[in-house]
Amino acid sequence: MRPSMFVLIAATGLLACNGGSDSDTTAAADAPALDSTAAANTNVHSAADSANAVRETVAAFERNAPVGASSALTVRPSSARDPGPRAGNDSAGAPLAGLTPPQLAAFIAGKADFEEAEEVDEGLGPTMNLDGCGGCHSQPAIGGTSPLVNPQVAFAGKNGMTNKVPPFITASGPVREARFVRNPDGSPDGGVHALFTIAGDPAAPGCTVAQPDFARQLANRNVVFRIPTPVFGAGLIEAIPDSEIVKHQRAQTDVKRSLGIRGRPNILLNANAISGQLNRNGNDGTAGRFGWKAQNKSLLLFSGEAYNVEMGISNGLFQTERDETEACNIATLPNSDSSLDGHAPEVLSSIDLFTLFMRFLAPPTPSTTQPGGPESITRGRGLFATTGCALCHTPSMKTYNSSVTAMRYQSANLYSDLLLHDMGRGLADGIQQGQAGGREFRTAPLWGLGQRLFFLHDGRTSDLKQAIREHASDGSEANAVTQRYFNLNDTQQQDLLNFLRSL
Ligand code: HEC
Ligand code: HEC
Repeated sequence: MRPSMFVLIAATGLLACNGGSDSDTTAAADAPALDSTAAANTNVHSAADSANAVRETVAAFERNAPVGASSALTVRPSSARDPGPRAGNDSAGAPLAGLTPPQLAAFIAGKADFEEAEEVDEGLGPTMNLDGCGGCHSQPAIGGTSPLVNPQVAFAGKNGMTNKVPPFITASGPVREARFVRNPDGSPDGGVHALFTIAGDPAAPGCTVAQPDFARQLANRNVVFRIPTPVFGAGLIEAIPDSEIVKHQRAQTDVKRSLGIRGRPNILLNANAISGQLNRNGNDGTAGRFGWKAQNKSLLLFSGEAYNVEMGISNGLFQTERDETEACNIATLPNSDSSLDGHAPEVLSSIDLFTLFMRFLAPPTPSTTQPGGPESITRGRGLFATTGCALCHTPSMKTYNSSVTAMRYQSANLYSDLLLHDMGRGLADGIQQGQAGGREFRTAPLWGLGQRLFFLHDGRTSDLKQAIREHASDGSEANAVTQRYFNLNDTQQQDLLNFLRSL
């Protein structure tokens, strides 16, 4: 896409909309000719290259800088290495301590629903990325992130479905969802385009809905990725008042300014636009906190949206199907809702159950000894603060007077300020959500990091040191701090990596 065009569109403030024809003449003029054979054989790297290319292009518009300019990060050789994910799976997945028996019962029922794989007669599809929350949120325990083996590969052909596995989905790579940067007519898109359809499943005999043409979109450099974020401790994140976020934003302003760190909350004035849906969410001017761009306010909202977007299951919050092709919609609409049939009025819907499971899920328990031993971890914690990582990755915030006793006035040791930061051209994805621009991301909470397998919003690396390096690029607020990390001596760098893997 040509720079001038993007600027023009951005300036007119068009909302994302999925209209337009299939032809993509503007992009085709700039993109290499599409060779369908080559595209079908595209490997992960060329998919990643395309994503990098689109980020470069998008970011350059926003910076008004020539593509190709880079930040001046100096990285000298060092023996410090990512010790790799900590073994075991008992650091996460338990309920919060101190829940009442009914709360614990809701946690258990919610977990079962969160883990369940859904079928077409329950409303799965017509288009979706997987068939259960637990498939994407599973490492190192249910509620976590992308597992070692990506379940999307096997899912593509489940129950007779005739899906092709897109080239950016591999068995050893992260679970991914795909967003398109723009529509065929060049206007901003930004929405999730589901990878799969239920076509071929005998439960929906007349359904022939096709997958998006990912090969073409990749060739047009129009695809960016997101990997799952974990939901351990999510209830505590939900219970942090906006005033606490603002308090931390206003702390240490002198040192933040000297290092070029700003940060702002994602104030939900405009609801986030999901491609294919009208922009109907209300807006109350409070801060969003969930998702890579802090684009959603609450666990209930995320549950309703994920149920519809990731699994194609319409529900009490998201009543309409994303694809309304009649032959593909077998279950009644909305697919899932509170039902009074034969139940007491207080019966919970699935999205309520998902919410209660996530709300009552305890934060991960860090190790005090692994990896590297207690002294190294303690030194690393100190360096995390003195290097400046903690200026964005705020170690702890307080919850409010929660109606849930177990969550009341607790410390949430999340290692995030829940603010948006400009991460520069290198991490830019060109997607706008709420107030978050194409280069802005929520400081990723680091609790549980020790057992995460893939890093950064698109899962571009499994190496912790590389994840730190990616913080530096043209225009990133983290440039100075990243340089300070790479200025540390080898032992110090290792201590900091050990500390991160102890979380
Ligand atoms: C196909 C994989 C997939 C499935 C299935 C899935 N998710 Fe997610 N989940 C993601 C991705 C990707 C993100 C990050 C989205 C973003 O920020 O754009 C995410 C983020 C979240 C978050 C935000 C957590 C935080 O702090 O950022 C919540 C909450 C969540 N999912 C709940 C659910 C629930 C509930 C379900 C089932 C209804 C579900 N997810 C199903 C992939 C999935
Ligand atoms: C200016 C704010 C800022 C500073 C300073 C900062 N980070 Fe980050 N960090 C972020 C943001 C924002 C992300 C998410 C970026 C993305 O995914 O595109 C992130 C992501 C990460 C991740 C990946 C987490 C995941 O789940 O994928 C790690 C690890 C990390 N930071 C470590 C560090 C360390 C170590 C330092 C200090 C050397 C540091 N960060 C300094 C803002 C910051």
